[in-house]
Amino acid sequence: MCTRGSPFAAMRFALLAAIHCLAQARPTPGRCHLQGRLVGEVHGLLERMGGRFPPECLGDVVAIAAPTAAFRSNGTKRNAGVERAVYHTLTSIDFLFGNDTVPVSWDGRTVEDFQNIVYRQIDESKCVSSRRATADFKDRRRLLGLYFDRLASVLQEKEFSACAWEVVRRELLQTLKFILNNTLGHLFWARRRRNFH
Ligand SMILES: *[C@@H]1O[C@H](CO)[C@@H](O)[C@H](O)[C@H]1NC(C)=O
Ligand SMILES: *[C@@H]1O[C@H](CO)[C@@H](O)[C@H](O)[C@H]1NC(C)=O
Ligand SMILES: *[C@@H]1O[C@H](CO)[C@@H](O)[C@H](O)[C@H]1NC(C)=O
Repeated sequence: MCTRGSPFAAMRFALLAAIHCLAQARPTPGRCHLQGRLVGEVHGLLERMGGRFPPECLGDVVAIAAPTAAFRSNGTKRNAGVERAVYHTLTSIDFLFGNDTVPVSWDGRTVEDFQNIVYRQIDESKCVSSRRATADFKDRRRLLGLYFDRLASVLQEKEFSACAWEVVRRELLQTLKFILNNTLGHLFWARRRRNFH
């Protein structure tokens, strides 16, 4: 995660390292959680970076089973399994975007902001992944693994074409939306509900 190709990536890393040091200088005990607000921002930036789904890419759409069961909750308030599944989703998104192969037509600045916020959330909430895994996390992780492998192969099969990326972006928007729609109430980062578009 620390070695990335572009100079932007190097800058991003330096910035995030600085943020990380600040965070370490001022520990905030008892605040190990994901932030719903940031997940909402991630969704908004992903939506803005490319605008509407281009009609010319409709032919590239493939059916991919949504990993909704990975976020299933039995109604308990602080569901560690769900929270960890959301965390795993963010690290998988970070990995997908790691090779800087996104279409040049996407807004570069927004892509940068998106990657920064995804990484910031991963970095600030590391504690979520170091907690002892709940028994049900194995199933959640398997589902997410299948899903993200599928997205990665869509990109590879189509040689990271703009349309392949549009299909992946559309998928990720759906999945993030599902998380925002369905998990906020089950995680303790849900301090107040906001209207994410
Ligand atoms: C809900 O799930 C949590 C963690 O997965 C578990 O600890 C709890 O016992 C479950 N509650 C019910 C009512 O099934
Ligand atoms: C990034 O590139 C490496 C080396 O070419 C490749 O092995 C990896 O699968 C790529 N990652 C993604 C998410 O496409
Ligand atoms: C999220 O909720 C909105 C409003 O209720 C709904 O229109 C949309 O289909 C939902 N999306 C997903 C992916 O659950």
